[in-house]
Amino acid sequence: MHNAVIAPSILSADMSNLGKETKSVLAAGADFIHVDVMDNHYVPNLTFGPIVVKALRNFGIVAPLDVHLMIKPVDRIIPEFAEAGADYITFHPEASENIEHTLELIRQCECKSGIVFNPATPLDILGRVLDKIDIVLLMSVNPGFGGQSFIEPVLDKLSHAREIIDKSKYDIRLEIDGGVKIDNIRKIAEAGADTFVAGSAIFETDNYGSTIAMMREQIALANN
Ligand code: DX5
Ligand code: ZN
Repeated sequence: MHNAVIAPSILSADMSNLGKETKSVLAAGADFIHVDVMDNHYVPNLTFGPIVVKALRNFGIVAPLDVHLMIKPVDRIIPEFAEAGADYITFHPEASENIEHTLELIRQCECKSGIVFNPATPLDILGRVLDKIDIVLLMSVNPGFGGQSFIEPVLDKLSHAREIIDKSKYDIRLEIDGGVKIDNIRKIAEAGADTFVAGSAIFETDNYGSTIAMMREQIALANN
């Protein structure tokens, strides 16, 4: 199992202060920054393009940037996100014409690759792409907006994904995204997640550092 990673989603940050907010949450103990890219087509919301990723790099952000693409089509813009400074690039298989090709494209761009499963999407294709991914992202809300409630049945799916990864010989992170809070992160960790996206649970608190510290305490309880 990998070390636990906390990846705040800047979707819930104060957008008028994005660089400062990103620096603050990293100073408060975050590991990765989760960047939710939405296109008003694959999902009904519109957020960040590669220029925002580039701007964060230019502002001095050096932490891993975990770019979650909720866009369709997906291939054309992948090299631009890589060039801008993405480290991880994940996409929804429904948005790709050829999943294997998209995964290979991400690795050719020297980024870590991954696929995202919506809450209702079965894990069927996971087995056939294990050699092409560095991360699996399970959505625990329907994609599009921050601040929604965690969909409980995803816990079983998380355990199943953990089994599939552990039985494989590959080094793959298991990420959860949506409705992650201090009071449910322990059971999410127990189900097998090692990478935790949290937007509103962090950015809607006054003290990012104490929220992240409390999340880590809960994760540690799960790993005991
Ligand atoms: C939803 C996004 C999530 C979202 C999580 O489409 O993928 O990353 O920002 O927000 P919270 O943690 O508030 O559910
Ligand atoms: Zn996300």
